[in-house]
Amino acid sequence: MAHILITSGPTRQYLDPVRYLTNASSGRMGVALAEAALAAGHQVTIVSGPVAVNYPAAARVVDVVSTEDMLAASAEIFPACQGLIGVAAPCDYRPELVASQKIQKTGEPLVLYLHETPDVVATLGSQKAPSQWVVGFALETEDARFRAIVKAEKKHCDMIVLNGPEAMHAAQTRVEVLTHHGESAGTFEGSKESAAREIFRVINQRLVQPREVQP
Ligand code: C5P
Repeated sequence: MAHILITSGPTRQYLDPVRYLTNASSGRMGVALAEAALAAGHQVTIVSGPVAVNYPAAARVVDVVSTEDMLAASAEIFPACQGLIGVAAPCDYRPELVASQKIQKTGEPLVLYLHETPDVVATLGSQKAPSQWVVGFALETEDARFRAIVKAEKKHCDMIVLNGPEAMHAAQTRVEVLTHHGESAGTFEGSKESAAREIFRVINQRLVQPREVQP
């Protein structure tokens, strides 16, 4: 049995107490991957941004709001885990200034100065022990395979799951699992739930089980 960390859902970067920037993500893939990992007998901890979906009761869920919170919570949990599945869509930008009161409208354009937030998968990937593994996701609209492989390298991922843009806001998806060498480990099409089961089957076979073999 392995302990697996899953980051899931979007994060929020507040501009003021009521307005925020976010990414489009329902958390459905996170739910389905957690169910597949639990069904295979593993222990699952999910660090999730605000979502409306329900995670499986057998998983431990740590709720976070911002990308910085997601990184802090994940960094604390990751050392005790065998691997990380980074399926979250953390918001990549934060406003330089966060107003403590609601920003009032003036009739003039509001200029936002944005900084990049830390990358959760890249940070944990750079800290992983030789016995640990990291799986990232990539959604690309052009040169998809090439860009996904570059992303896997940059973020220290052992495997990367390539999504087509048609997966956003859709029940159906088409994904390709790539190793960090760029080798295809399978293409899966269908509901997000069935794709997640197939993705986890590959993770289990190629990353989890080889580490569980006793010397
Ligand atoms: O760079 P991009 O957002 O396309 O990369 C997607 C992968 O990186 C996903 O696995 C996502 O969970 C992760 N990511 C992250 N922290 C960010 C941005 C992306 O962990 N700030």
